Amino acid sequence: MSNYHIKHLEEYYQVYRKSVREPENFWEEVAEEHFMWQRKWDNVLSWDFSKPEVKWFEGAQLNITENCIDRHLATRGNKTAILFEPNDPSEAAEHITYNQLYERVCEFANVLKGQGVKKGDRVCIYVPMIPELAIATLACARIGAIHSVVFAGFSSTALATRINDCDCKTVITSDGSYRGAKTIDLKGIVDDALDSCPGVETVLVAKRINSDINMKQGRDKWLQPLLDAASKECPAEVMNAEDPLFILYTSGSTGKPKGMVHTTAGYMVYTAYTFKNVFQYKEDDVYWCTADIGWITGHSYIVYGPLTNGATSVMFEGVPSYPDFGRFWEIIDKHQVNQFYTAPTAIRALAKQGTELVDKYDLSSLKVLGSVGEPINEEAWHWYNDNVGKKQSPIVDTWWQTETGGIMITPIPFVTPTKPTYATLPFIGIQPALMGEDGQELKGNQVDGRLCIKFPWPSMARTIWGNHQRYRDTYFSAYENKYFTGDGALRDDVGYYRITGRVDDVIIVSGHNLGTAPIEDAINEHPAVAESAIVGFPHDVKGNALYGYVILKDTGESRNHENLRKEINQMITEHIGPIAKLDKIQFTSGLPKTRSGKIMRRILRKIACKDTSNLGDTSTLLNPEVVQDIMDNVL
Ligand code: WTA
Repeated sequence: MSNYHIKHLEEYYQVYRKSVREPENFWEEVAEEHFMWQRKWDNVLSWDFSKPEVKWFEGAQLNITENCIDRHLATRGNKTAILFEPNDPSEAAEHITYNQLYERVCEFANVLKGQGVKKGDRVCIYVPMIPELAIATLACARIGAIHSVVFAGFSSTALATRINDCDCKTVITSDGSYRGAKTIDLKGIVDDALDSCPGVETVLVAKRINSDINMKQGRDKWLQPLLDAASKECPAEVMNAEDPLFILYTSGSTGKPKGMVHTTAGYMVYTAYTFKNVFQYKEDDVYWCTADIGWITGHSYIVYGPLTNGATSVMFEGVPSYPDFGRFWEIIDKHQVNQFYTAPTAIRALAKQGTELVDKYDLSSLKVLGSVGEPINEEAWHWYNDNVGKKQSPIVDTWWQTETGGIMITPIPFVTPTKPTYATLPFIGIQPALMGEDGQELKGNQVDGRLCIKFPWPSMARTIWGNHQRYRDTYFSAYENKYFTGDGALRDDVGYYRITGRVDDVIIVSGHNLGTAPIEDAINEHPAVAESAIVGFPHDVKGNALYGYVILKDTGESRNHENLRKEINQMITEHIGPIAKLDKIQFTSGLPKTRSGKIMRRILRKIACKDTSNLGDTSTLLNPEVVQDIMDNVL
């Protein structure tokens, strides 16, 4: 019996040890017992990080959609698979059962086939958070086409780059999308993008906002009539374990976005196993991840992880602030959500609103709270814990990346005691290493270094589409025989990991390594502060000094900025030490963020260094307008 579902700490340690000592036996048992295979593997794992080459379950044949859908039909056919909550709260939620999902995925798959899409073809999916997004994704997987989902908030330039990079001939989109009180002309953005994508032959258009759009003859087709005419049965394509399942782009610190390639069997096994344990999902639970399927979090923990477990997965079309900042809490109450997975940036934005809205709703259904995407600062952690979880629901601070495919370092709720700002322990099968400046692994506890992974795990990306050399250079060349994450981390006295942020954000002040996250944490502890970001700038004596950008809470009263600066530095002194004090503090109304909510420190660094000649492309930012404002007020 494999330990598919871990229930107490001793069991975690026991299973973890097994997963490290006998990784092949361990993953083979998990794979044997919980999935539908058309053919079993000849070999569980072969790997060589110097190439790098990693193969899991070689020789196996399967289709991931049979594991996400067909396998559940006999026992869960009438259970809700996808619970769609529309942007407008007065529009009815849609419950798509496993039976219905089966039919809709098969129909869509047949439409794709009818348009000439074949196994191995790349299909670009640029669709908002409506059911068609999940269904299109699964339909590609059904016929073995490689999906490349592009977040439907990206600009036409960003979309064109991604379409061209992997030569998509087919694009799936919608006439438009809703975002709070606004509608967005998605099809117009696609039309603009396609001016520079000569390879695209077919555009399939779902109807969402019923706007009057331009349909290019011969290229653009309404989806619904094609679906209506399609058969509700579509045999699943036979896929090899290492056949690509999808490409998902992630931005690097330099150059064009990297198309991370994920393959079929290992990705399926790992996302399923992590979903089950990290969220302690039980039959009849309602699980909600607020991410967009356009990001890895949505791929792994809205679609594949939940569905392979036969779960009910909520898909929310809207934004946390519409019609007001109580929307998340209203949805949790309405659908009696049991597991809620969101990002620190959302928590901070909601915390800024106070507790009135969160107290208005019944959140007693919640059992587990998740956090992902960036380090969660202490203040946000406590706000989440106190006001959302009412101190009853463990917070799982899950560290992972687009490249890792699944959650890597995380508490297991009700199993691992949590500690604010710590992602705690490696998940089963994950072997982290912290590397020192001399390139040696730092052994023992109470060390701080660069986070690497020294053994393959099933869901790791296998390459960058079209550029294996870049994959090797980016991830496997910094340290021999190790995958380098680009993050810094520390290991405390009991072996818990705390992610300190990207190492490119580490600032060395007077010879001391300072992570941005702990300093921002300290600043955010100040009652007047809503959010902050720290960067380094050159300093004659110290090498680097710290520059802080601080957003104040909107309390309606005006504050003396000089006093606040002193108080903030006092906070830092108390939490970290005088070494981490800021030389300059600029108060600002916003911070430049990526669409996924990450602060673009690269831009802030350039502004602080008064080096604004080449800020790079700011058009894909969520809020490009704040950049000028920050520049105008630089200290
Ligand atoms: C950061 C998102 C601290 C980290 C799944 C990583 C985190 C990058 C956490 C990947 C966390 C993600 N604590 N930092 N719990 N989760 N990160 O590819 O820097 O969008 O390298 O994947 O986000 O971001 P990505």
